[in-house]
Amino acid sequence: MGYTESGDDLAARVKEQADIVQVIGECVELKKAGVRYLGLCPFHGEKTPSFSVHPGQQFFYCFGCGASGDVYSFLMKYHNLDFPAALKDLARRYQIEIPERPQSAQEQEKSRRRKAMYAVNEKAAAIFHDYLLHSEKASDARHYLAERQIPVEIQERFKIGYAPGPDAVGWNFLGGQLSAEERHIAEDVGLLVKKEQGGTYDRFRDRILFPIFDRQGRIIGFGGRIVGEGQPKYMNSPESLIFNKSSSLLGLYQQGEEIRRRQQAILVEGNFDLVSLVVHGCPNVVAPLGTALTVQQLKLLKGYADEYVLLFDGDAAGVKAAMRAVPLFLGEQVAGKVALLPPGHDPDTFVLEKGLPALKALLDQAMPLPEFTLAQLVQEHGLTLDGKSRIIDELRPLVKAAVSPLQRSLMLSHFSETIGIPAEELKAALVSAATALPPEPERKQPLRREILVPLTPPQKRLVTHMVLYPHSLGALEGGGIRSCLFGTIGEILFLQLRGLLAQSGEVEPEELLAGLPEGGERILVADILLSSSSDSNALCCQGTEEELAELLCWMEREGLVQKSKKLMERIAECTAGNDDTDLQQLVFEKMEVDKALQSLRQKSS
Ligand code: UTP
Ligand code: MN
Repeated sequence: MGYTESGDDLAARVKEQADIVQVIGECVELKKAGVRYLGLCPFHGEKTPSFSVHPGQQFFYCFGCGASGDVYSFLMKYHNLDFPAALKDLARRYQIEIPERPQSAQEQEKSRRRKAMYAVNEKAAAIFHDYLLHSEKASDARHYLAERQIPVEIQERFKIGYAPGPDAVGWNFLGGQLSAEERHIAEDVGLLVKKEQGGTYDRFRDRILFPIFDRQGRIIGFGGRIVGEGQPKYMNSPESLIFNKSSSLLGLYQQGEEIRRRQQAILVEGNFDLVSLVVHGCPNVVAPLGTALTVQQLKLLKGYADEYVLLFDGDAAGVKAAMRAVPLFLGEQVAGKVALLPPGHDPDTFVLEKGLPALKALLDQAMPLPEFTLAQLVQEHGLTLDGKSRIIDELRPLVKAAVSPLQRSLMLSHFSETIGIPAEELKAALVSAATALPPEPERKQPLRREILVPLTPPQKRLVTHMVLYPHSLGALEGGGIRSCLFGTIGEILFLQLRGLLAQSGEVEPEELLAGLPEGGERILVADILLSSSSDSNALCCQGTEEELAELLCWMEREGLVQKSKKLMERIAECTAGNDDTDLQQLVFEKMEVDKALQSLRQKSS
């Protein structure tokens, strides 16, 4: 082989071949609307379509939840794939051959071992699950689960099993059902333990087993609870080539879709908390595996929802766990909230005793993490002079963890109000030279220039005005800016700007820039800011009243032009189809519109 194509080239070639409308159309029902296609967003629950696919620019965007990207990001998000898998999938679909990268002998061996490990876990899970459901000797385990109100459907959904104990079946229940080769692998995944004198015995004995799945549904380990009282209460598989505790989440495989549908994930601590919430009507739930939430787990969850609620015990440990999660959430720019249970309860006992409505009420009152933190700090240190200075010390790392200036200034303004220190003073105290914020890390992903929809010059002028003078947004909205920017990147920007304004009441253009996702919107705003500060401000945006009036007038005219065009199209349709029931009305309407247009033109000339 002489020339080999680089991965990037291949990805670009496959993308070029792929028809984004067709690919997404297999998962989402799309209807053509002008130059784009519209459908119900698969990434958040909605009843009116705000999910758009733009075939020209080869990207999709959801006005409701902000999900956006190209055909690869769609496949990755929708099917939970990584990039190579999405590429492979797409290439196969378009019959483009992917040159197989030759694997080293070592790599081949590793991937063979992984496969064998999944297979042994799968086999063990099936044995334990079957035993739980059917064996006479599992009646205590079944009884225990019934007492804890875990019905058989849920046992099946989570593939819960039972590993019988030595009194009933000896120490080699699982080992005895595996081949010599499988036993070897079962040792590697920790299902069997090596004996000093040779041979192995079962790790899990007399325990209810919860298989731990990865996002693709492969079983990577187990968590086992003793039936009834006893120590240790829980025992998990040891880490292995396929099991890394800090980057796995219990329930994500089963409940991920519900989390996506509701755009909210509830995080609980325990295995039974998870299944119990699912049983009692709160299905958007996941659990880290008996440890504090990690960055990797949050990254894993991040694409699923807008909002994450930590549902923790109300004791000191629960508060501490919530406080520890704050920098993670800020660092990942994810909105986290905390709901604390009354003392003595965990989510399982709470929902069993108080019921779903009480749980819902608790979740509805969840407090945003920064607010929660501050409330805790105030409670801890008080608002004396000394207390305030301690609070400031503890807030410093949090403000540092905020990634965007917008996030930072929102936090500062909230903190300053609560502690009663003017924002500027607080900012000086928190963002001192010693803790100067590090420069923002270079973004790894290249900006997606290709998604920029060209704006016509008047549209560009409109967008520039909107970005530089956000206080006019209300007036512009009233004037119909959205339909004037319909289908362009300007429309996306308008929606984002409106969202930011609703949150904070005021937006500096730089804050808007920092808060935007990478991509066309950011480039556009950056361009606008750059050109506005240079002398050659080609668009001459001054933010004057006259300018606003002029733009409003243009929008009005543009609105009428569009209306007239649409009416013309419908008239043409009617005449072509020999359907003249509406024809007269349409013609009349068009005349009115054209008349209005005419008089506007006269006024402005
Ligand atoms: P808890 O001790 O709060 O137990 O541990 P729990 O979930 O309420 O258990 P039940 O309701 O009595 O069955 C919380 C979680 O921490 C992990 C488990 O995932 C458990 O569900 N854990 C706990 C361990 O991994 N190992 C342990 O020894 C204890
Ligand atoms: Mn419990």
